[in-house]
Amino acid sequence: MMPRLFLVLAFAGLALAQPASTPGIQQQPFGTHDGRPITLYTLTNSHGVEVRAMNYGGIIVSIRVPDRKGQSADVVLGHETLEGYIPNPPYIGAIIGRYGNRIANGTFNLEGKTYTLPKNDGPNTLHGGIARTFDRVVWDGEVKGRNEVAFSYTSKDGDDGFPGNLKVRVSYTLTDGNAILIDYEATTDKATPINLTQHSYFNLAGEGNGDILNHEIMINGDHFTPVDKNLIPTGELRPVKGTPLDFTTPTKIGARIDDKYDQIALGHGYDHNFVLNHKPNENGLVLAARVLEPTSGRTLEVWTTQPGVQFYTGNFLDGSVTGKQGHVYNRRYAFCLETQHFPDSPNHPDFPTTILKPGETFREKTVFKFEVK
Ligand code: GLA
Repeated sequence: MMPRLFLVLAFAGLALAQPASTPGIQQQPFGTHDGRPITLYTLTNSHGVEVRAMNYGGIIVSIRVPDRKGQSADVVLGHETLEGYIPNPPYIGAIIGRYGNRIANGTFNLEGKTYTLPKNDGPNTLHGGIARTFDRVVWDGEVKGRNEVAFSYTSKDGDDGFPGNLKVRVSYTLTDGNAILIDYEATTDKATPINLTQHSYFNLAGEGNGDILNHEIMINGDHFTPVDKNLIPTGELRPVKGTPLDFTTPTKIGARIDDKYDQIALGHGYDHNFVLNHKPNENGLVLAARVLEPTSGRTLEVWTTQPGVQFYTGNFLDGSVTGKQGHVYNRRYAFCLETQHFPDSPNHPDFPTTILKPGETFREKTVFKFEVK
């Protein structure tokens, strides 16, 4: 009798001593798609930061972080159910591939062959095409250790027009330093372009809580890749100095978002690739951007191994998507920092290459780190 009573009391004590949610990973069924089970993985750290992700599209469903008073809020747009994401025209929270951002005229030449891709953005291919893009397929999910979930997917030779069987693995790790590490890995059996990114829509005041024009952002890029009317890079690397794209010192997102500058007009606000200043830290990561939401004090830092970041201010959100808690996602209710290779690189031999060859391993890493100020 005694030992059992002791055990019960010991467990009760343990439960009381712990924070609201136990650090670690929990799994729960989240519906089915294409006859396959979808699992929602909840990662919690010792500071009460909580990240939810699922194996449909590798989507980050929610990120809860405390503000300077310790009040938690969900800082990414999204939906409460799987159905909310089908379809998901703004690519909310998803892994993007095979090729994030645009490929002009849906075509490229590689090793003497011309490839044709489905066009889904005027004359361009956006975010990998239409049929089996990475944001809308079912991945295999696997829990690794106490704080990492890994998603794997094989894209078949010819899928959406791309060559080679491409094996991809993307993993999310939540650290006790309040950082989400995103690790990308891929191999192929034929040369193919690849450009993977994560399409979370952030609002550090909390999703649905107004627009993001009051957030202050620093982007660590002295140059950007100006675009034509189809948002395809012209090939120029233009200094940001003297333009509304100069975020080398922290500036309110809204300060110049409707400026007369032609690039702002073309992007309907910010929708541009910044060339990151290449000063990597000891882990090979470059600071891409730092964002502060002054009311809550929440900050987000984005670090990456990738050469560019697409700063997109949700200009195409138009209130047609209703997300969590019935929140209507209006224009500029979120921003994205899509770390990436430059748009349309397969058609710009001067840009850093995006071609992955058999025998090579594609590896990139991005970190979303949260703090309060
Ligand atoms: C990227 C593009 C934008 C837009 C969004 C998705 O950020 O650059 O133009 O297409 O994805 O809506």
